[in-house]
Amino acid sequence: MIPSPLPGQPQLHYRDAHLHLEDCRLADLAREHGTPLYVYSTAHMLAALSAYQRGFAGRRAQICYAMKANSSLAVLQLFAQQGCGFDIVSGGELARVLAAGGDPAKVIFSGVGKTRAEMRQALDAGIGCFNVESEAELEVLSEVASSMGLRAPISIRINPNVDPQTHPYISTGLKGNKFGIAHERTLATYQRAASLPGLRVVGIDCHIGSQITQAAPFLDALERMLDLVEAIEAAGIAIQHLDFGGGLGIDYHGDTPPAADALWAQLLARLDARGYGDRLLMIEPGRSLVGNAGVCLTEVLYLKPGEQKNFCIVDAAMNDLPRPAMYQAYHAIVPLQAADQARPALEYDVVGPVCESGDWIGRERSLAVQPGELLAVLSAGAYCSAMGSSYNSRPRPAELLVDGAQAQLIRSRETVTDLFRQERLLAVQ
Ligand code: LLP
Repeated sequence: MIPSPLPGQPQLHYRDAHLHLEDCRLADLAREHGTPLYVYSTAHMLAALSAYQRGFAGRRAQICYAMKANSSLAVLQLFAQQGCGFDIVSGGELARVLAAGGDPAKVIFSGVGKTRAEMRQALDAGIGCFNVESEAELEVLSEVASSMGLRAPISIRINPNVDPQTHPYISTGLKGNKFGIAHERTLATYQRAASLPGLRVVGIDCHIGSQITQAAPFLDALERMLDLVEAIEAAGIAIQHLDFGGGLGIDYHGDTPPAADALWAQLLARLDARGYGDRLLMIEPGRSLVGNAGVCLTEVLYLKPGEQKNFCIVDAAMNDLPRPAMYQAYHAIVPLQAADQARPALEYDVVGPVCESGDWIGRERSLAVQPGELLAVLSAGAYCSAMGSSYNSRPRPAELLVDGAQAQLIRSRETVTDLFRQERLLAVQ
């Protein structure tokens, strides 16, 4: 029996044996818009955001949605309407924020490889802060801002050397990672920043990794950050805001991250105890705002029994939903129509049509399905569509945002001609 509502996803539930997201019957949406299809819940995103807002109640705080998790314009618009700023990592993301009506003054620009053109674009737009990741970047940013007659607002991203106990590909705050400035170099780097003509120090920043499901790494990073703030301010450089980086992990498969408000109660207690509770606090959550708000709907094309394994071949693939192929990530897969109890379930590897053995969506899943039936891949709101590609010349799926019983198309399905619009045949000799 599949529980309803599904764990971690209160907006997803079976009603009359049909899976619904809020009040929308997902099979109807799949029939109308085709598959693969991404569907997101407005209520889930707003509830996830409000857990952070509750955590910060009564404090000076700015939530900057890490839009790399899901950068669809309508999703950005929804968060902008709630007062969110945005954590961006490219000029392309900045353009999306502006197109969605976001406030550039609430934008922070992270990333180790900002180009001069991106710096100019961000300075022109008047973003709130650059999170600088290396000493070399400081020099270039100062030069670019000076040439425009400006002073760029900056934080330095420190690398606290804390183990977030997550997948190595998404752990960022260890010495061996490419991100941030080593703890030992931080004070000297702030002193250099304060001396450069094109820069204005406004904050400090840290991000230790993603899909973190415990409070301890956040608390450790906080203590290390505050030690540095003490040293930097003792050297006469004021730090106005403290940015704690990305947010919490989510429940993919029985994961039990703390609630955002519970985590913040602990962090605020430490901040208050050390006398920093009245600073402007910033966070950059991505996954926890959108991850469990989304599902990817897919149709079963073929069942292929085998000697060692049975394969359930579906029409969504690693290009649409790359997390399993990239990180061996687990995404629950459930039928859109609750299975007839009498039908026997078999164990399948759920795979897509892409010509790679790494193209799988789920392994060893017990399913009672037939070709033509529909499945939902869960927890697909973050880092799924956003990391998708058109590999194998597969157009990107359509996307819908539901709100109660309403579903709005927020991205049309890409067409094959969209895929090769920028390409040119060779000139005929
Ligand atoms: N801030 C910075 C500087 C980041 O690099 C990230 C994520 C975030 C905030 C948001 O972190 P979150 O709240 O989502 O944990 N593609 C991977 C995740 C990559 C995360 C990259 N940085 C995945 O699918 O698991």
